[in-house]
Amino acid sequence: MRRFLIAGNWKMNCGPYDAAELLEGLKEKKADVDENVDVLVCPPFVSIGMAVNYLHDTDIQVGAQNLHFEENGAYTGEVSGSMIAESGCNYVIIGHSERRQYFGETDTTVNKRSHKALEHKLAPIICVGESLDQRKSDEHFHLVKNQVTAALFDISEDDVLDVVIAYEPIWAIGTGETASPEQAQEMHEHIRKVIAELYSEDTAERINILYGGSMKPANAKELLSQPDVDGGLIGGASLDAASFSEIITIAEELS
Ligand code: PGA
Repeated sequence: MRRFLIAGNWKMNCGPYDAAELLEGLKEKKADVDENVDVLVCPPFVSIGMAVNYLHDTDIQVGAQNLHFEENGAYTGEVSGSMIAESGCNYVIIGHSERRQYFGETDTTVNKRSHKALEHKLAPIICVGESLDQRKSDEHFHLVKNQVTAALFDISEDDVLDVVIAYEPIWAIGTGETASPEQAQEMHEHIRKVIAELYSEDTAERINILYGGSMKPANAKELLSQPDVDGGLIGGASLDAASFSEIITIAEELS
């Protein structure tokens, strides 16, 4: 019932020139994607227009890495949901741990941004995940439950079907260390249970839960084979056309 979503989070990499090169490589390898797999790239804001133009004749979609929860006005440096939608995006990453850690993002602002995204028909990819200390002190299940619950506050059952959750253990992001397939599966199952409690079993079964944290061609198959892992939010490996395409191929083979 669920389709894989393979999403590239470029973070603060690739202005328009580098983006063009990366997209050119990606297009050569993966302009056509199996119908059971959704593919997405999330460049920095300045490269979104370029990505939308480059990819318009492919199966690859474009998303943003953040949005502001106000509609418009005196918010220097911010970009609104309507602007992102107007630029041709249909997804937006929200509450990445780097935003929580460096830019004061909280569960409350994650919730406000998610509402705004949905209002503009942008599917929010809401990031949750624990630090190594939180895992070591056995707080991870509780923490992730709270993050998911807060992020989805006041989102209707209809709207939540457009939400994507990305489980990204902070200790696995950009470190080369990956959650084991078992660790990923048990957390994804937990998240689905939390959603079932908030909404219903049926809704929980329909929501995509991605894994993020050093996913690469060498570990993608094991991770994507887990029953509750519905795709990946991929940082480092999405900056290399060959690696990202390989992960897409793995998802195609598993779907
Ligand atoms: P990584 O990043 O794949 O480089 O670990 C994932 C993410 O932060 O979304």
